[in-house]
Amino acid sequence: MSAVPDTPATATAITLLVNGVTRTFDGDPSMPLLWFLRDELQLTGTKYGCGIAQCGACTVHVDGTPARACTRRMQTLQGASVVTIEGLHVTGSHPVQVAWRELDVPQCGFCQSGQIMQAVHLLRNTPRPTDADIDAAMNGHICRCGTYPRIRSAIKAAAEKRS
Ligand code: FES
Ligand code: FES
Repeated sequence: MSAVPDTPATATAITLLVNGVTRTFDGDPSMPLLWFLRDELQLTGTKYGCGIAQCGACTVHVDGTPARACTRRMQTLQGASVVTIEGLHVTGSHPVQVAWRELDVPQCGFCQSGQIMQAVHLLRNTPRPTDADIDAAMNGHICRCGTYPRIRSAIKAAAEKRS
């Protein structure tokens, strides 16, 4: 029986856009996107909560759709476009961010970048969401501080601004 070589296969570099900037990754292709964002790009607005796609704290957009960066593997991202909270607006003045500030939504703030990324996607697809639309879209984004009523109000305020 021949021995199995212990030299790891050479990883193929992965090229992707992050907040409109071309980035290359040539590490372990099974690494979660969240590690790349936080540890290699220092985009620390995206948070690590549960690590198992259950809390929503790590939510970013991948090709325009919310994705959990803690479980999204780098090997799936060749050619993808990733947007993080830092990429929503150069000065943090996206209408959803403005509404969040005006209604003083965050408490500790830990969950809020994920909440905002999900809310932005909701409003893109449903410009005038009902309470049921909001509950359905935001379900799965856990806030240990219980800011849910202010999140709902801020989503409605952002919808008003954009209409
Ligand atoms: S850290 Fe990704 S969903 Fe909780
Ligand atoms: S504001 Fe503290 S976890 Fe949501």
